[in-house]
Amino acid sequence: MSKAIRINQIGGPEQLQVVDVQVGEPGAGEIRIRHHAAGLNYIDVYQRTGLYPFAMPLYLGMEGAGVVEAVGAGVTHLQVGDRAAYASQPPGSYCEARVMPAKSVCKLPDTISFETGAAMMLKGLTAQYLLKKTLPQGGLQAGDFVLFHAAAGGVGLIACQWAKALGLQLIGTAGSDEKCAMALQHGAAFAINYSTENFAARVKEITAGKGVKVVYDSVGKDTWDQSLDCLQPFGLLASFGNASGPVPPFAPGILGAKGSLYLTRQTLFSHIATRESTQAMADDLFAVVASGQVHIPIHQRYPLEQVQQAHIDLEARKTTGTTVLTM
Ligand SMILES: NC(=O)c1ccc[n+]([C@@H]2O[C@H](COP(=O)([O-])OP(=O)(O)OC[C@H]3O[C@@H](n4cnc5c(N)ncnc54)[C@H](OP(=O)(O)O)[C@@H]3O)[C@@H](O)[C@H]2O)c1
Repeated sequence: MSKAIRINQIGGPEQLQVVDVQVGEPGAGEIRIRHHAAGLNYIDVYQRTGLYPFAMPLYLGMEGAGVVEAVGAGVTHLQVGDRAAYASQPPGSYCEARVMPAKSVCKLPDTISFETGAAMMLKGLTAQYLLKKTLPQGGLQAGDFVLFHAAAGGVGLIACQWAKALGLQLIGTAGSDEKCAMALQHGAAFAINYSTENFAARVKEITAGKGVKVVYDSVGKDTWDQSLDCLQPFGLLASFGNASGPVPPFAPGILGAKGSLYLTRQTLFSHIATRESTQAMADDLFAVVASGQVHIPIHQRYPLEQVQQAHIDLEARKTTGTTVLTM
């Protein structure tokens, strides 16, 4: 048996219920993992509220770390007793133990704790593909400016550090002066409090009128228009989330008018669609963490049973860095 968090219908945090479930044996291509911790991600909110629709009932959670307890037929990269971590579909990591596809599960290096593994796989692999693979024409070179919204959040504080390690000048936005200070401490070259300042005007000031080569935008509705105004001609708007709500439909002509801009909407799940790509990205993440260039900031811990409070705090913008649910 395992405690797990389930919703029977979409709605607010009150829908998150602790239930006892029977955990079976893994089938072909699957493993059973016993978690030490699970990661909290904003995508969990989208699934809970129905912005990203799923069949009900739904077991939530997309990130976890623990020990492999059983291995199904055909799984060769994991063995019983391995320490492991993952970012993965289908949801269901908010639990003590589960059976899941082995494809996205990676062996966790001994130097990385379970909590760090649970906190970093979805958010760290996202920072990896954004900064390394979601690039403007001609790529990014050391010294280039990029704009990263919600820079004091889970993905944000990892991206601040990784961008610095790559020699980029990351301009971070955040919703308070305290969060801006945190982004700067984690390697952002500049920080803008977008709840009090016009961030497009500040970006123009910082870049001497030129604008940035890429805007990484996970805030969505509230930042969309101004984000386009921050870009250089031929710059890239990399949209990857909707914390403030989804971006409404728009006319593509606006991209021409603002300087022949490029637009992409990325999701991690395209990048980790194969075992090989997942492992290659995870190896890159493990290396940058092991080197000390990126430290995974775990700023909140909640026991699994207090998952409702974790969601309340995440949606109220009270969290910074990463958050784990402990078992
Ligand atoms: N597409 C992908 O592959 C992918 C993968 C991972 C994450 N994401 C996206 O990346 C973003 C960051 O994820 P995360 O899990 O690390 O979350 P997070 O950044 O820790 O939390 C979300 C942050 O968004 C900001 N925000 C701005 N407007 C908001 C609003 N109206 N309501 C709530 N928050 C608002 C808040 O920071 P401030 O107070 O500083 O504004 C908040 O702390 C999310 O949008 C997520 O969906 C996308």
